[in-house]
Amino acid sequence: QMDVFIDNLMKKMTLEEKIGQLNLVTPGGAVTGSVVSSDVDNKIKRGEVGGLFGITGAAKIRKAQEIAVNNSRLKIPLIFGLDVIHGHRTIFPIPLGLSCSWDIPMIQQSAQVAAKEATADGLAWVFSPMVDISRDPRWGRISEGSGEDPYLGSEIAKAMIKGYQGDDLSKNNTVMACVKHFALYGAAEAGRDYNSTDMSRIQMFQNFLPPYKAAVDAGVGSVMTSFNEVDGVPATANKWLMTDLLRKQWGFKGMVVTDYTAINEMIDHGLGDLQQVSAESLKAGVDMDMVGEGFLTTLQKSLKEGKVTVQQIENACRNILEAKYKLGLFDDPYRYCDEKRAGDIFTAENRAAARDYATRSAVLLKNDNVLPLKKSGSIALVGPLANNHNNMLGTWSVSGDFVNTVSVLQGIQNVAGNVKINYAKGANISDDPEFAKKVNAFMTEIEIDKRPAQEMIDEAVAAAQKSDVVVAVLGESANMSGEASSMSNIDLQPSQKRLLDALKKTGKPIVIVLMNGRPMTIAEEHQKTNAILDVWFSGTEAGNAVADLLFGDKIPSGKLTATFPMNVGQIPIYYNHKNTGRPYVKGGPTKFKSNYLDISNDPLYEFGYGLSYTTFKYSPVTLSAKNMTKTGSIKASVTLSNTGNYDAEEVVQLYIRDMAGSVARPVKELKGFQKVFLKKGESKEISFTITEEQLKFFNTELKYVSEPGAFKVFIGTSSATTNEADFVLN
Ligand code: IFM
Repeated sequence: QMDVFIDNLMKKMTLEEKIGQLNLVTPGGAVTGSVVSSDVDNKIKRGEVGGLFGITGAAKIRKAQEIAVNNSRLKIPLIFGLDVIHGHRTIFPIPLGLSCSWDIPMIQQSAQVAAKEATADGLAWVFSPMVDISRDPRWGRISEGSGEDPYLGSEIAKAMIKGYQGDDLSKNNTVMACVKHFALYGAAEAGRDYNSTDMSRIQMFQNFLPPYKAAVDAGVGSVMTSFNEVDGVPATANKWLMTDLLRKQWGFKGMVVTDYTAINEMIDHGLGDLQQVSAESLKAGVDMDMVGEGFLTTLQKSLKEGKVTVQQIENACRNILEAKYKLGLFDDPYRYCDEKRAGDIFTAENRAAARDYATRSAVLLKNDNVLPLKKSGSIALVGPLANNHNNMLGTWSVSGDFVNTVSVLQGIQNVAGNVKINYAKGANISDDPEFAKKVNAFMTEIEIDKRPAQEMIDEAVAAAQKSDVVVAVLGESANMSGEASSMSNIDLQPSQKRLLDALKKTGKPIVIVLMNGRPMTIAEEHQKTNAILDVWFSGTEAGNAVADLLFGDKIPSGKLTATFPMNVGQIPIYYNHKNTGRPYVKGGPTKFKSNYLDISNDPLYEFGYGLSYTTFKYSPVTLSAKNMTKTGSIKASVTLSNTGNYDAEEVVQLYIRDMAGSVARPVKELKGFQKVFLKKGESKEISFTITEEQLKFFNTELKYVSEPGAFKVFIGTSSATTNEADFVLN
């Protein structure tokens, strides 16, 4: 039915109209490049626009849709998209934070709630999920992904697609997802945004491509190209990537959109002029050109000169029309423009969900028995992020409601009304105006308090002296991570370090509430304080969630999904590394081994790490058999006991090591996990079924195979676990 409809429509379309469908424009909103679309209304009337992004609101979008439906020759509806990344109006923790929940149903639900709000606001398409694996916290966009692990990243990718798209794209509360940025964007050299990537195919297939593939397998409707090159050719003109791999090998049937002006940027990559790069992009398999209008302005010429074919233009046009068809836009162009649905947005229910997600995404990094706090006595609440609203939402929260965001100060007042709060800002996020100017270029700002730094510190010290405990809310501003926010130094800013040093001298117990969009180098702070609770940027309900955790109404259960290095010299650092021929041995001799002279190889906090207010004990791993055939399976089990004083959740993690293979295999790979709730004093057997699937890897021919031999199974509380057992695959 769809094919017939689109065949008939395309028969009526002129070449110009077909090319028009490939044009995605933005009249403003989130401008992340040097170009903004102009003369948009007239272009729509002339049939030169296929979609629009950067506007919200059912009424506003209806108006824009009316231009297409009433004033363009063929009345083809536009598709409206937006960066809905971690919630729409109600903002949830940044994606890196959400991933630390390891709570797949929760993550799926978060996408579903976002879809409901987005569709009530006129949108049919979201530029999410971002599934780029990254091993480099200098890269600001590590905040937008799910960390360093391909297995966890794939599970999250699938859940997000299901949450956004549901089981029927044409429903008025589901949106088309867009998996991005295809591919390898998170492997930018030196962690510098938009930089080149270069890696072996084995590395790609094993560790970086799985989440994109998982999204395709889950039926994602669209894919966004990345800015970087892949194997020497920018992704946006990379035929191997977009056609051979994505469409032929993986069977992707949806539409491919570029990133913002990614076609034009290939001129700077050195691939030719606009006509050339546009033609290359179309030929590679790109359907829609975001903002750059290279397709709109050059494809006709390229067709005349034989540089592209009608078939290539028609294929792209068809993919876009199919997406619109599946979204139900041909049935009803105003399907997502129901102003009566305004009540679905920013509801008490969605805010309650945001609060819950935020508590589940936080990771307790250190606790010398100071947390949870008592709901009595006094607290010195200090730090530049303690009484702050704007920064709570984190990166890419373009439609977030900043005004109604809960600060930590408010949250503590709400949750622990009897506690005496002695508040003092104590420091600016940064005192460096030049740095602040660069960070402030995009939405939220670092507000620099003009008071002398010492005066602010003195105030905080005075607050500490008259309080039982210090809660210092420190970290980054929202825009210090995210797009175009790479950092070569990921320490706390000097202004905040000075504040902490002064607080330390008071001798009061110090709890850091850390707000950050990336792993940071906080070894010093680990030494100097009694507890560190990493809450990322936790969204609309940030303050309430932080207070829930600080006072023990909720028990932290998050686990890191990206390694925290000791210092930037260790980067790239990740748990699933290779052993090398001269492996580092903890505490062993160091000469002629793969290590540093000045620092250990160990990170500050490893992948999978995170504490609770309770304690958990793992029994040794038991296996149902010592040998396994390729068609068989082995059950690996532990008994998990809650040995502390709180009912709580634990993420039980399964890792496997392939002891010998035709290619060098990592020291450990995550192959399963379960989030388990145990009452205090309770014990439970936790089992995983291991099949051949978990033992496979990409060999030198890029075949996904298992090889007979010895394997180790680890089950424990983090990737550092040594709780292991052995078996053999026959
Ligand atoms: O979706 C984003 C992408 O992640 C980065 N560049 C701009 C796009 C649209 O806003």
